Amino acid sequence: EGDDGYRLWLKYEAVTNAPVKTEYLRYTTFIGRSDKGEITQSASRELQMGLKNLLGKTVQETSSSAGRSGGILFRIEPGAAAAQPAEGYQVQLSGGNIVIVSRSEQGILYGTFALLRHLQMQRPIKNLSIASTPKVRYRMLNHWDNPDGTIERGYAGASLWKWYELPERVDPRYEDYARANASLGINGTVLNNVNASARFMSQEYIEKVAAIANVLRKYGIKTYLSVYFAAPKTLGGLATSDPLDPQVRAWWKEKVAQIYKEIPDFGGFLVKANSEGEPGPQDYGRTHADGANMLAEAFKAYDGIVVWRAFVYKADPNADRFKAAYEEFVPLDGKFDPKVIVQVKNGPIDFQPREPFSPLFGNMPKTPLGIEFQITQEYLGFATHAVYEAPIFKECLDSDTYVNGEGSTVAKVVDGSLHCYTRTLMAGVANTGNSQNWTGHPLAQANWYAFGRLSWDHELSSEQILQEWVALTLTRSEKASGHIAALMLRSREIYVNYNTPLGLSRPWMGVHFAPEPWQNKGSRPDWTAIYYHRADSSGIGFDRTASGSNALAQYKPQVQQQWNNPDRTPLPYLLWFHHVRWDQKLSTGRSLWQELCTRFYTGADSVLWMQQQWDLAKTSLDPMVFTDVAERLKVQRREAIWWRDAWVLYLQSLARQPIPAGFEPPK
Ligand code: GCU
Repeated sequence: EGDDGYRLWLKYEAVTNAPVKTEYLRYTTFIGRSDKGEITQSASRELQMGLKNLLGKTVQETSSSAGRSGGILFRIEPGAAAAQPAEGYQVQLSGGNIVIVSRSEQGILYGTFALLRHLQMQRPIKNLSIASTPKVRYRMLNHWDNPDGTIERGYAGASLWKWYELPERVDPRYEDYARANASLGINGTVLNNVNASARFMSQEYIEKVAAIANVLRKYGIKTYLSVYFAAPKTLGGLATSDPLDPQVRAWWKEKVAQIYKEIPDFGGFLVKANSEGEPGPQDYGRTHADGANMLAEAFKAYDGIVVWRAFVYKADPNADRFKAAYEEFVPLDGKFDPKVIVQVKNGPIDFQPREPFSPLFGNMPKTPLGIEFQITQEYLGFATHAVYEAPIFKECLDSDTYVNGEGSTVAKVVDGSLHCYTRTLMAGVANTGNSQNWTGHPLAQANWYAFGRLSWDHELSSEQILQEWVALTLTRSEKASGHIAALMLRSREIYVNYNTPLGLSRPWMGVHFAPEPWQNKGSRPDWTAIYYHRADSSGIGFDRTASGSNALAQYKPQVQQQWNNPDRTPLPYLLWFHHVRWDQKLSTGRSLWQELCTRFYTGADSVLWMQQQWDLAKTSLDPMVFTDVAERLKVQRREAIWWRDAWVLYLQSLARQPIPAGFEPPK
């Protein structure tokens, strides 16, 4: 029987190492839990299930563990380590027991998952001491799921949420979804697409949402909804959705109250407004702050928050989309209600395989800025290309904005430490769907895992997270893990090489899959490929220096210095900021044309190397998972060649240069 991937990183495979098992058996004779909360109940249930699978043993829960040893104790100490956020935990040995201590039920749950991780990795209990606190307060998934069951940019099947069955039938999968997220520390989820249907504001749908919220709550996860800004008009029948109109304000207030009646711990709203055709406050001559603050007012009596997205740009062929969010949002700094968090995509354009960090980070010191990453592989080959994304997330988080001098990283903006805000947020656009293994590509599970772990602790390294995930999910063989880690850690760079090397972006049209770098016609001028790469007979790349759009001026001088001189700009960012001549010599000794070709060819060939690495791990892998990935890698190889040839043939028509020696010309 093969592994269908459903259990993700929560497989709890039997411990076979005898001395390790003996030690584990000694410390798992009971679970001591005295509180009656439903979150610690989930923790206890998870622990019982985990131990049953790991050790083949049924462990009873007891509320009277005084004087006993050899068990696992949950200890909620509201006063403990007062400085720690309530969700933090400590797991340590004390009085012959494993003790999980936290100020909150949620912390106990996170500590339980940390302990289970420890046991799954077969680490010793002797000297056990794990302590961790989240660096970010709101750790969320954003689902781009529609009421009809489709998922915008989803490649793993249909939506997990079965709206037509709810609220009466509650799919058991919702609970497994909650377990997986809680195991990573995710504490919020937005159920529906940012291109939101007003339907979610109807009583009918609020009741459906409440049924899901009832499941997620047991795992410390709050439920949020994306809202359609014009709902007062389309759903409420008002004459306007103007955020300064008293009737509109009253409508939202009532709406929020109606939601809290069904969902007492409702998380809040996520809003895409005046972006890509969505309605918003600007339709009435108002600002993003006016719109966000109106909604914040409706949440005044509650814990909920308003997450307002900064993903905005206008269809102006002469403007630079790169600059748009900064231009619209920086002037509003300080004007947002304290309940508002502005959610900014990691880069200035749109989740490209490589982007510089968004210049908004650091430039709105009076406004909490959350970061939005994309886990689903919209621009990363959907569900057939293996791309491990932790290096993408880390690259952005580790970027230095220099706003308060050296060391002012994006991570410090996002975790609130730089500008002292406490409402901090990291969001990931989910890659889940109803396919058996949740993410379509088995290796894409690692991206969900990595996002979750980083949202809790952005200081974890890509390597460390990967090592954990491989051990929990695929294999504990050191040799096999080495091959898999090598493959996955290089996968993003390989993809970039055959897809968008040297800082190219968006060679796609609407579906964002097929190579179409030649496209110069689209429904909007900024939805063509040419708009982004600006290739012509002289060269390629977008001049964003003072001689071009001057987008660079949105960064601090130290950042500008990294990127304003084409001779000094690191090659991964070169064409983001410069239009470079085809025959320009680069630091590699090759001309731009030769370098591009080299990247396209070696990138596509590196997929062969990925296949070899995967094959070398074969004997340590479940046959079903092995075959699934091996076959997807074949597709990836075919498509990488397709990308390479499309780019090379198109660019050759402009550069008019031969394919460099050693590379076989496209047929
Ligand atoms: C991208 C994506 C859209 C999505 C948008 C957003 O442009 O292609 O499908 O709606 O981002 O983040 O709002």
